[in-house]
Amino acid sequence: MRAIRLRKPGGLDSLYVGEAEAGPVGAGEIRVRLHASSVNYHDYIVVMGGIPTPDGRIPMSDGAGEVTEVGSGVSGFAVGDRVVSTFFPLWLAGEPTLETLAQVPGDRNDGYARDEVVAPATSFTHAPAGFSHAEAATLTCAGLTAWRALFVEAPLLPGDTVLVQGTGGVSIFALQFAKAAGAVVIATSSSDAKLDRLRALGADHLINYKRDAEWGVTARGLTGGRGVDHIVEIGGAGTLAQSIAACRLRGNIALIGVLAGFAGNVATAAIMAGNVRINGLTVGSREQQLAMIKAIEANAIRPVIDSCFDLEQIADAFRRQESGQHFGKICLEW
Ligand SMILES: NC(=O)c1ccc[n+]([C@@H]2O[C@H](COP(=O)([O-])OP(=O)(O)OC[C@H]3O[C@@H](n4cnc5c(N)ncnc54)[C@H](OP(=O)(O)O)[C@@H]3O)[C@@H](O)[C@H]2O)c1
Repeated sequence: MRAIRLRKPGGLDSLYVGEAEAGPVGAGEIRVRLHASSVNYHDYIVVMGGIPTPDGRIPMSDGAGEVTEVGSGVSGFAVGDRVVSTFFPLWLAGEPTLETLAQVPGDRNDGYARDEVVAPATSFTHAPAGFSHAEAATLTCAGLTAWRALFVEAPLLPGDTVLVQGTGGVSIFALQFAKAAGAVVIATSSSDAKLDRLRALGADHLINYKRDAEWGVTARGLTGGRGVDHIVEIGGAGTLAQSIAACRLRGNIALIGVLAGFAGNVATAAIMAGNVRINGLTVGSREQQLAMIKAIEANAIRPVIDSCFDLEQIADAFRRQESGQHFGKICLEW
């Protein structure tokens, strides 16, 4: 069976087509014929060698496919079921612990850029009904991160205002979830053409962050000066100051991404004065994934897919991500 592997020290030219045998199915395990994955910035950092992995690592945290064999003691899965992987196979429910965050497919363990895998049944959930494998594969990392930011860390209420940054996977899921929950959404992008597409997805207010360096102040103005209730912060160091400027008193900033830097000066006094609640978070649990999928089905939400590449064109998928031209999720489908 095929598997994409990563030669040390990494880089897009270090990806190659290799082999991997999934092995026999044991008690509590399922065999999944994989058909799709999706590209996340985290996968990009791994393949570029930014997170050291053993030579030959199989990348990609997200995997979707069909169950082809079920081990003894497994309930809830049958041959033919369409399934999607979880980001933290050991974090099933409740609060995260260092132990339950210790395994991440495609990073600390082999991932899903492969034809077949045998894994504990709890490493997967059912995919939403009617989803393609590529659609399902967008949920593991980007979808669940947006879900947790809005509904787990800081419960969103209808009528709240949500600020989303840019048009990547996490931000577009956050926009879709926020609109489904009855929120007012302020969305930013570097591109006017992408802003038009955000409007079509339901965004209420649009800001071009390249033209408006004070986009956080502008966002606050759009709320009548009160400030935004929930901010999905995917930039990090380079965007946090404007997010703090946008945030209402006791508002929530879900600190998720690093697209604008890994570290920087933080306006601690402004955080204190604004009584701002900043929650760092990493994806979510299997229990949260199940709740997200229930909501996706109930609200007929469909992931926004920018493009799909064959498994063996994985480097081209990452090049598309590097270009910054994508809108939504870049997928692998095979
Ligand atoms: N903590 C977690 O659990 C978790 C989970 C998933 C992702 N993340 C992180 O979240 C970030 C986004 O991930 P993703 O998968 O959604 O990435 P992505 O799909 O590659 O998003 C790229 C888009 O982000 C926007 N962007 C880039 N720099 C920006 C800036 N300075 N201000 C506003 N928008 C900016 C751009 O949108 P425009 O072209 O429209 O300007 C760009 O096209 C990454 O840092 C990733 O590592 C963290």
